[in-house]
Amino acid sequence: GWSMNSFIDTEIERIRTIVGPTAEVIGAVSGGVDSTVAAKLLNLAIGDRFHAIMVDNGVMRLRECEEASVELREKLGINLTVVDAADLFLGKLKGVTDPEKKRKIIGNTFIEIFEAEAAKLEADVEKKGRKIEFLLQGTLYPDVIESVSFKGPSATIKTHHNVGGLLANMKLKLIEPLRELFKDEVRALGELLKIDANLIWRHPFPGPGIAIRVLGEVTPEQVRIAREADYIYIEEIKKAGLYRKISQAYAALLPVKAVGVMGDHRTYEQVIALRAVETTDFMTADWFEFPYDVLKKISSRIINEVKGVNRCVYDISSKPPATIEWE
Ligand code: XMP
Repeated sequence: GWSMNSFIDTEIERIRTIVGPTAEVIGAVSGGVDSTVAAKLLNLAIGDRFHAIMVDNGVMRLRECEEASVELREKLGINLTVVDAADLFLGKLKGVTDPEKKRKIIGNTFIEIFEAEAAKLEADVEKKGRKIEFLLQGTLYPDVIESVSFKGPSATIKTHHNVGGLLANMKLKLIEPLRELFKDEVRALGELLKIDANLIWRHPFPGPGIAIRVLGEVTPEQVRIAREADYIYIEEIKKAGLYRKISQAYAALLPVKAVGVMGDHRTYEQVIALRAVETTDFMTADWFEFPYDVLKKISSRIINEVKGVNRCVYDISSKPPATIEWE
């Protein structure tokens, strides 16, 4: 077998050779393991000549953008720009209920913002007499195959990463240090690179984020409810020591109201659906068999702590025929 330590050394050398002594590189980071590992490799190879861009689209998990930017910038020393575009994204999502439209809006707005940020960086770099010549992508080996064969709702994963315009307009060349690796290898690499375990083991998160987990119209208030419920859910899963057993877990906010009672008041509030699945390839998945006491704790905390929710249900649907996401 080959060791990950030698992979790091070889890859750093390969990146230095490809990029050369003066060119600069840009890349989007999301706070997920793939883009973080890819960014750290670039940082080790060429330091501040690598520019990471994180777009806060307003529909990431609660506190995720802040936590990820601290990890990348302060702990990993990556040259990072965070673009706060939450209001812009939420403005464009106003009144939109169709899941595929939500995906398109988020994908297109992401590209728009990333391109604008790239143009700003390009202007700065040019002042130093240099040029941005490469675009980093955290593509893994399964993505390389999937992009050819995969169909279905998740086929739009690619719209999020569709930076074809950028490659053409700025004449950027792609750099993909992870394209021969599987997820478990990327995680092993992340550990060697001293990336925080929370980040390395974080469940996958769709590009459109909480926007496809708020069913129906995405408003700031609906995002708040979904985020707070999701945060409690994940916190309790971690406390119960189940986080790594589950492949993906999240809270979805249903667009229906249910009757409840609090003290001597009748309430009429929304419903949270909890989803947790076990899967190896995300093409098929089984719902996770929670111990009842864990579900009980999660449900009581969400209903008591999240304003606007008076009922919790657990999703017992396998994929297929259900998908992992509700939208
Ligand atoms: P489904 O819901 O199709 O999801 O069973 C399979 C996996 O893909 C993720 N997913 C997405 N990821 N953009 C993404 O980046 C998307 O539009 C998207 N839709 C689904 C989903 O979270 C699961 O891991």
